[in-house]
Amino acid sequence: MAQVLDGQAMAARITQDVREQVDLWVRNGKSVPGLAVVLVGSDPASEVYVRRKITACRKAGIRSIEHRLDSGTQEAELLDLIDRLNADSHVDGILVQLPLPPAIDATRVLDRIRPDKDVDGFHPVNVGRLSSGTGGLIPCTPLGIMTLLDSVVDDYRGKNAVVIGKSNIVGKPVAMLLLEREATVTVTHIETLNLSEITRQADIVVAAAGAPHLVRGYWIRPGAIVIDVGITRVTDEGGQTRLVGDCATAELDHALAVTPVPGGVGPMTIASLLSNTLRAAQLRDD
Ligand code: GUN
Repeated sequence: MAQVLDGQAMAARITQDVREQVDLWVRNGKSVPGLAVVLVGSDPASEVYVRRKITACRKAGIRSIEHRLDSGTQEAELLDLIDRLNADSHVDGILVQLPLPPAIDATRVLDRIRPDKDVDGFHPVNVGRLSSGTGGLIPCTPLGIMTLLDSVVDDYRGKNAVVIGKSNIVGKPVAMLLLEREATVTVTHIETLNLSEITRQADIVVAAAGAPHLVRGYWIRPGAIVIDVGITRVTDEGGQTRLVGDCATAELDHALAVTPVPGGVGPMTIASLLSNTLRAAQLRDD
């Protein structure tokens, strides 16, 4: 039976750990770390994620400041809000929930966030720092994935890691982090030919394609570790909806370890946001 990596429990431990560090920070006379969360429009999934992020901040003793803008908001208005948050000394982290409405250029918005307040790690300065291995804030989902992997991998050197998905939020940054630990990394995606032959060589598979049950049992060699980042809402024949990952987990008994969906990577993304906000507060020099 594969070990199930309990992201929920690990996230709860990280949240508690951040809380203790925040308490210490405040006892040393510093101000409570603050996270500004910006939501434009009312995308239902984004609403759920933002709510979870704010609840997690409360548990960790981080002050969250929510900014809700309606879906017709002009880009200039959003940029103006970011300028104010950049200049606000009570704000240590700024998170703009994606996706943004189509009329707003997300790149321009993310580029406007001060790199040292960019707790999502999406600013080009942080992307560059990650690819050159020179520090910076690391995107939350990849950071959470590495924390899960670190619980079962002692040494990445010489391991074959296969990433499925090439997104800027997960695939590319997680590949950089695995490379930094000296794994041999192959980045694949939905257009990759003979994907199952490539994954069959892997010691570590990170599935982030957003394709329900793409990864079948025969894709995975015995003893491999499988991280399932996918989370897609599907409706079954009875009209019931449920969340499905990128991996057919029921076929993965022969793996060494797998992450469940839900309750694997998702909670770790939020816990990593808390760590990043504390880190941003500690690294800021103004
Ligand atoms: N939308 C989906 N994932 C993310 C994320 O990690 N950060 C933000 N800001 N928006 C998202």
